[in-house]
Amino acid sequence: MGNDRRPDDMVRITTAELADKFIEEQIKLVKEQVGDKKVLLALSGGVDSSVVAALLIKAIGDQLTCVHVNHGLLRKGEPEQVIEVFRDQMKANLIYVDATDRFLDKLAGVTDPEQKRKIIGGEFIEVFAEEAKKLDGIEFLAQGTIWPDILESEAGIKAHHNAGGLPDDMNFELVEPVKILFKDEVRVVGERLGLPSNMVYRQPFPGPGLGVRCPGAITRDRLEAVRESDAILREEFSKNGLEGKVWQYFTVVPDFKSTGVKNGKRTFDWPCIIRAINTTDVMEVTVEHLSNELIDHLVNRIISEVPGINRVLFDYTPKPPATVEYE
Ligand code: XMP
Repeated sequence: MGNDRRPDDMVRITTAELADKFIEEQIKLVKEQVGDKKVLLALSGGVDSSVVAALLIKAIGDQLTCVHVNHGLLRKGEPEQVIEVFRDQMKANLIYVDATDRFLDKLAGVTDPEQKRKIIGGEFIEVFAEEAKKLDGIEFLAQGTIWPDILESEAGIKAHHNAGGLPDDMNFELVEPVKILFKDEVRVVGERLGLPSNMVYRQPFPGPGLGVRCPGAITRDRLEAVRESDAILREEFSKNGLEGKVWQYFTVVPDFKSTGVKNGKRTFDWPCIIRAINTTDVMEVTVEHLSNELIDHLVNRIISEVPGINRVLFDYTPKPPATVEYE
């Protein structure tokens, strides 16, 4: 099996046997391509980059260096899990960069959504390039490109290639071992590589992370309210058998306050919005209707456990007209 295009007659990888066969083939191809040279990978902790990391660790061990940039907009527990799985369990060469202050300082006071996205994307490339420049002898850049990315960029739907954006003097050859796979196949392969299932089956998460769920100018306290409420929502969905069933669910904490009362005293705090949706193609989405018990429980936990929140709202709007994310 070649590395470039998905053969028309390729059998969908749905079983452990097929996944193992794919893994063996790719290990051989990666070894042939890379030889004894060094490879760099931006490891976000998302499904695709995590599966590429696990595959390359198996194929070329410490010839791979992974860089995990924490932009401060990740979900609760994510950077810790990347370190635990890849550095502690898989013994990867992992450079962890806590760039939280750098990102949040640049974002301070920025209210325009497009500007926020540009700052996050631009700063990410800068931090990654800085780390790459500190390393000697890197000739390859690994990427978690998957088959739909190729099809969509060929069809002109979206520009692809994360490498586009790195400075011109960084001329790496690409290593893309899951390039011919569909997302569901990447997950099966990831499981066979020993990745935890909450990593392999995680819901989609946008590159700008919690930044787009903290509408307007991001402040550290409101960002923390988004992170904590999101963690409660994920925990409750998991406990109630909704993890892996509902396509995407998250919280948003908008930049306005309303009056409330707690322990006989007036409060003036933010609302927390819960959004839970289902879709197949993300062009159109429907809302997941939660049970009254779960709604009551979520409201109680969030108002009592998350500082700065005195009200919980549910977003029951389909797409269209509302997009999934708020910015
Ligand atoms: P919208 O808000 O456009 O979102 O209805 C559709 C899907 O795309 C995800 N999304 C992103 N994913 N980078 C990403 O990788 C982004 O900047 C981004 N913005 C939105 C969103 O979470 C939803 O699943």
